Amino acid sequence: VASVFDATDAFLVCLVDAGVPPRLLQTPASPSYSALLLSSVRNLRYVTPGTPRPLAIVAAAEPAHAQAAVRCGRRHGVRVRARSGGHDYEGLSYASLDPRERFAVLDLAALRDVRVDSARAEAWAGSGATLGEVYYAVAAASRVLAFPAGICPTVGVGGHLSGGGFGTLMRRYGLAADNVIDAVLVDADGRLLNRTTMGEDLFWAIRGGGGESFGVVLSWKLRLVRVPETVTVFTVRRSISQSATDLLTKWQAIASALPRDLILRVVVQNQHAQFEALFLGRCSRLLDHMRAHFPDLGVTQPDCEEISWIQSAVYFAFYSSSKPLELLLDRSGETRRYIKAKSDFVQEPIPRHVWESTWSWLEKPEAGLLILDPYGGRMGSISPSATPFPHRKGNLYNMQYYSYWFENGTAALEKRMSWARGLYEQMEPYVSKNPRTGYVNYRDLDLGTNELEDNNNVTSYAKAKIWGEKYFKGNFERLAAVKAMVDPDDFFRNEQSIPPLPAAK
Ligand code: FDA
Repeated sequence: VASVFDATDAFLVCLVDAGVPPRLLQTPASPSYSALLLSSVRNLRYVTPGTPRPLAIVAAAEPAHAQAAVRCGRRHGVRVRARSGGHDYEGLSYASLDPRERFAVLDLAALRDVRVDSARAEAWAGSGATLGEVYYAVAAASRVLAFPAGICPTVGVGGHLSGGGFGTLMRRYGLAADNVIDAVLVDADGRLLNRTTMGEDLFWAIRGGGGESFGVVLSWKLRLVRVPETVTVFTVRRSISQSATDLLTKWQAIASALPRDLILRVVVQNQHAQFEALFLGRCSRLLDHMRAHFPDLGVTQPDCEEISWIQSAVYFAFYSSSKPLELLLDRSGETRRYIKAKSDFVQEPIPRHVWESTWSWLEKPEAGLLILDPYGGRMGSISPSATPFPHRKGNLYNMQYYSYWFENGTAALEKRMSWARGLYEQMEPYVSKNPRTGYVNYRDLDLGTNELEDNNNVTSYAKAKIWGEKYFKGNFERLAAVKAMVDPDDFFRNEQSIPPLPAAK
């Protein structure tokens, strides 16, 4: 068995022989290794001294570099973890739980071209682009085109589209992954494939089956969607003494049935519920809808702001529409923090008494927050098997438990993690069941992690089913069948990658 040094050396030599310039290769001995490793890390939980680090970082500058990383990695026993925006909640794009794993990070940040064809309402986006860069480029090309994806502008296109991707346009246009019409991918043999050459099964799997499992997607062809020149936003905050408990209880029954041009999400934090809306139209019509469906919230004209769609992207990211659009291009984003997130899908309104007791969780000093994103609209009319993302009709909303902190050390870590886990446990009777489902892009290793099959160097399907059916329900088996077809040796592997379906199944 070759030592780590031999494997790293052979891998690096192979890359250079394949034409990757040495300046794009960093090892722990290189002066800029740490800065590059940290460049897009969001979650400080995975940059502790004990976290197993990559033996090299390949900063791909062109598709051939990614192909070389896969080919050389396979040849020399070095796994490749693709990293686009680095936002994985469990650090899977740059850290491993297994100290014995030899892996390199294939950093795609430089592959971030966004080319918009406004006449055809299409765009090609490199995986290394951020959502903010995509939104900015689309809006620069047209005032009436948009792309439906997540709220945080520093999230990477590569991981986000691989896992679904939802944001303020989802009730009108579905997920980001629902609006992908082609892709370029490096497969486990290092070949460059597009939709035609990869075939419809693999193309299905990469649009929601989670990052890493099937290959490295280098770029995505997006279907852009129509938005009016003027949209309306509002944010209204109600405290417990302003009936927040009643409003929240009521919101659950209303939000997924609102007209699909309107999304009304809620952030529940401290002792208040903050209602945030985007309406694809003018304030006067939005107020008509609010009066008809949710008069108790008491939204009035001064709450409304009429702005362009791109300003609404700034508004939701930075809570102000007057900040410069160029903030969407800032890849460094907010201050780094420690993060633990968990998620649920809610299918029946949670009873009022449960919300009543939730406030005591939210007033704890170690409390995080809850983010409630309503479904319905277009999300309810797409078949649960159209893409690997199965959470469509019948889901009222997605609930994210989001805990974050800045203090170092195990005491803070344990308190914050227990907060998220404790509240999640309390909610169990009131959320989806058999299985209790979650959203793969809100990666949560508490749901289970992969193990290898006995006497076989591939991930166990039987064990992976435990977490896999929570993210993908009935689509998990099809994902495993695609994996068996395109990567039977299980080269693309991480703690929650899709295992190959065993032949006997
Ligand atoms: P990252 O680079 O960490 O990759 C995530 C996973 O995909 C890893 O397993 C990685 O190996 C793999 N991967 C990355 N690039 C790949 C590629 N090119 N080909 C194949 N596999 C690849 N979600 C949402 O739906 N709506 C939202 O509003 C938000 N908001 C949000 C805010 C913040 C602050 C965070 C930290 C996260 C979110 N998310 C979200 C979740 C987000 O969608 C999720 O973490 C994405 O996977 C992040 O994609 P990145 O490319 O940034 O991650």
